[in-house]
Amino acid sequence: MSKEEESREVLPTKEYYNPKMGNYQEVYRRSIEEPDRFWQDQSKILDWFKGFDEVLDDSNPPFYRWFKGGKLNLSYNAVDRHVKMHRRNKAAYIWIAENGEEKIITYDGLYRRVNNFAKALLDMGMKKGDRVVIYLPMILEAPVALLACARIGVIFSFVFAGFGAGALADRIKDSGAKMVITSDGANRSGKVIDLKGIVDEALEQTSSVGTVVVVKRTGNSVNMEEGRDIWWHDVVKDGQAYVDPEWMDSTDPLYILYTSGTTGKPKGVLHSTGGYGVWVASTLKWAFDPQEDDRWWCAADIGWVTGHSYIVFAPLILGLTSIMYEGAITYPAPDRMWEIIERYRVNILYTSPTAIRTLMRYGEKYPRMHDLSTLKTLGTVGEPINPSAWKWYYENIGYSRCPIIDTYWQTETGGFAIAPSLNLGLPPLKPGSATFPMPGIEPTILTDSGKEVKPNEKGFIVYNRPWPGMFMTLYNDPERFKSVYFEKFKGKYYCGDYAVKDSDGYYWLLGRADEVLNVSGHRLGTIEVEDALITSQEVAEAAVFGKPDEVKGEVIVAFVVVKESAADDRDIVPKLRKRIREDLGPVYVPEEIHIVKSLPKTRSGKIMRRVVKAVALGQVPGDISTLENSASVDEVKAAIEEFKKVAKN
Ligand code: PRX
Repeated sequence: MSKEEESREVLPTKEYYNPKMGNYQEVYRRSIEEPDRFWQDQSKILDWFKGFDEVLDDSNPPFYRWFKGGKLNLSYNAVDRHVKMHRRNKAAYIWIAENGEEKIITYDGLYRRVNNFAKALLDMGMKKGDRVVIYLPMILEAPVALLACARIGVIFSFVFAGFGAGALADRIKDSGAKMVITSDGANRSGKVIDLKGIVDEALEQTSSVGTVVVVKRTGNSVNMEEGRDIWWHDVVKDGQAYVDPEWMDSTDPLYILYTSGTTGKPKGVLHSTGGYGVWVASTLKWAFDPQEDDRWWCAADIGWVTGHSYIVFAPLILGLTSIMYEGAITYPAPDRMWEIIERYRVNILYTSPTAIRTLMRYGEKYPRMHDLSTLKTLGTVGEPINPSAWKWYYENIGYSRCPIIDTYWQTETGGFAIAPSLNLGLPPLKPGSATFPMPGIEPTILTDSGKEVKPNEKGFIVYNRPWPGMFMTLYNDPERFKSVYFEKFKGKYYCGDYAVKDSDGYYWLLGRADEVLNVSGHRLGTIEVEDALITSQEVAEAAVFGKPDEVKGEVIVAFVVVKESAADDRDIVPKLRKRIREDLGPVYVPEEIHIVKSLPKTRSGKIMRRVVKAVALGQVPGDISTLENSASVDEVKAAIEEFKKVAKN
């Protein structure tokens, strides 16, 4: 047995396996064999203003359209319908600030805030179809802003508050946003990050934005430009406003979320209203089976798809109570997460493998300081979870009685694609496997030439059919949508990941098959870092790749050739780090930057990133016969040796 196979051990989760509900197979079969009936039933998870005419319009593949003709509003589904029933006074969010401050907002309170801000947006001239960029930290104004946009049909594009001015400017430009919603700062690990300053810098590079709404959060002093910048508390004047929710078509766009690809600038993933709403609410229910009185904590940031789907839309549609935490999970101490679970009696925790590995490093002492007995289900997302982190989570946080719901999905899928279904019948779990597909997802694993692999063989995972949460297109770029996702394997959705299906039918996701990096569960493009480097005046060439890391999954490594003018600059590495931090954001800053005289290239002058990576990681670089300058390989080796020597001392 190989090491990998050995680690695929079965752990019982019998306490939560209710055989009466164990009809996953049957539900899955119906979703594949009778999709129209299945999704017709499932669509009732939402309230519709007008029923749809057709479940799926597949007349123009790959531009699939779900629930065509249906009219609905997701802000109505997230708040109005709860206010009309027993959930009016139920907590929608329990918000916890990094400094321990707390706010509880009921569904009624959320309804009022959403209406007030929707009215403010209308007063500022925003209308259906306009684009707004939201650049906010984890504060309650974030879900309020998303829902207010959804209420009036404004397409929002949330930009993660850890991104820099260049990344923000690119997203503003591509979306053509008329407005930016931000705050005077963000609290993170005891420091204040000047978000408004970053917005000001980004706006120097763009021209579409006429208004900037600024939430006062930190009291940080900011520049307010006359005629453009306005405080949130000054625009939300009418405390009693009511705004009729716009009757959106099911196929009207809800949001654009930019994500990294293999080539070029980030891609604007465009999500629908009806299909997306049905998908996120259904998948949360199936996978985690949250109950009315549960407290659900999705510990992601709203800036990533996990936050959009499982902090905002799905839990609100289902009428749940969510925990929302503003700060870092290790601040002020490594027991922060466990302390929150104890204090707020959290029942379901959904976090990332990187968070688990980070906290695992601090040892069992920290979780032992707290009573975690309210937990009944645990979840992970964003990257493959290694069996040892899985077991630590299972044993030390869940005390071997909470199933772990490993959810595999992507920005493009809108919601979970492969995950165990607590609600439909939990399979015995295998640490490191996301187990089985959600209803409606039909995966296959293929070789490079499109042949199905045998069990236990690695290949490219594709989906054979559309599903409701599927993105509609790439904003402004339908051609790229077709070519990136549907051309490699004709007509099938290619998601860019490697996977294995074992002989019991379990899926094991093995990471990206392309040049996309996954650092702490954050999806980043090598090409973006290379671009930021080569547009620096000191840099001639750059090659960037991911190196495996025990905690973060991957870290970024860059090899750089500097121009002659910068050859004697001893501060070049800190300068480049600073530039990347400011342009793209701290998550993009390479762990290692190596300066070399040349990089391996083909005869046509193309940098062979694959070779640089293999040599730097001490692997066999494969075929290097087409290499123009073989001495560069020795340079890469020497740079790594030197780095190791310095690190040792
Ligand atoms: O490689 C897969 C990995 O994260 C990628 C998607 O990143 P993003 O669009 O930013 O969405 C992250 C949150 C859903 C995938 O292509 N990935 C995500 N979840 C898992 C995973 N890899 C293995 N196991 C997972 N559970």
